[in-house]
Amino acid sequence: MGEVSRTPNLTGLRLREMTPDDVPAVMVLERALFPADAWSEGMLRDELAEPTRHYLVAVSGDMVVGYAGLRFVPPEGDVQTMAVSEQVWGHGVGSAMLTELLEQARERGVTHMFLEVRSDNPRAQRLYGRFGFVQIGVRRGYYNGADALVMRRVAGEGDDE
Ligand SMILES: CC(C)(COP(=O)(O)OP(=O)(O)OC[C@H]1O[C@@H](n2cnc3c(N)ncnc32)[C@H](O)[C@@H]1OP(=O)(O)O)[C@@H](O)C(=O)NCCC(=O)NCCS
Repeated sequence: MGEVSRTPNLTGLRLREMTPDDVPAVMVLERALFPADAWSEGMLRDELAEPTRHYLVAVSGDMVVGYAGLRFVPPEGDVQTMAVSEQVWGHGVGSAMLTELLEQARERGVTHMFLEVRSDNPRAQRLYGRFGFVQIGVRRGYYNGADALVMRRVAGEGDDE
C-alpha cells in the first residue's frame, strides 16, 4: 500500500487497515456522507470484528479522509461500504481504495464481486463502472428514499486481469 499518485492537494495520502481506534473519525465521515442511511457505531465495530471482512482507511497527514470495506467469502465478495471526505472528492482517493479492495479480494480467491449502490448516486455508479462493475439488478426500496442498483464485477471480464 504505497503513496497514491495524482493527489496534489493531499499530503502523503496512505492506505492502511482500519483499526477500532479509527472508528470515531470514520463515524464523523459516515454521518456526513450517508445522511439518510448512516451505519451506527455498533454496526461498524461489529463489521471490524468479523473475520471475513477487510476494512481500510485513507489517511492524509493524520486525518482519515476515506474508508472502505470488503466482505470476502470466496469466490464471492462484496464492497460493504466506501466513502471519501467531500473536501477531497475528485482526487483519486475513491479509486485508490477500490483498487486496494479489489486486490485484497483477488488475493483471497474472490472472482465475483458484488455491491449495492443508491439509484440516485451517479457519481459512485460511474466510479464502479470504470472498475468493471456492471448492473445486474435492482432492489426496490432497499435504501431510505431510493432503490439499490446491484452491480457485479467478474474477474477477467471487462478488465485486464
Ligand atoms: C463516490 C465517492 C466514494 C468517490 O470518491 P472520490 O475520491 O471522489 O473518487 P475518485 O476521485 O477516485 O473519482 C471521482 C471522480 O474524480 C475523477 N478523478 C480522479 N482522480 C482525479 C484527479 N487526480 N484529478 C481530477 N479528477 C480526478 C475521476 O475521474 C472521477 O470522475 P467522474 O466522477 O466524472 O467519474 C465519493 O464521492 C463519496 O464518498 N460519495 C459519498 C458516499 C458514497 O456515495 N459512497 C458510495 C456508496 S455505494
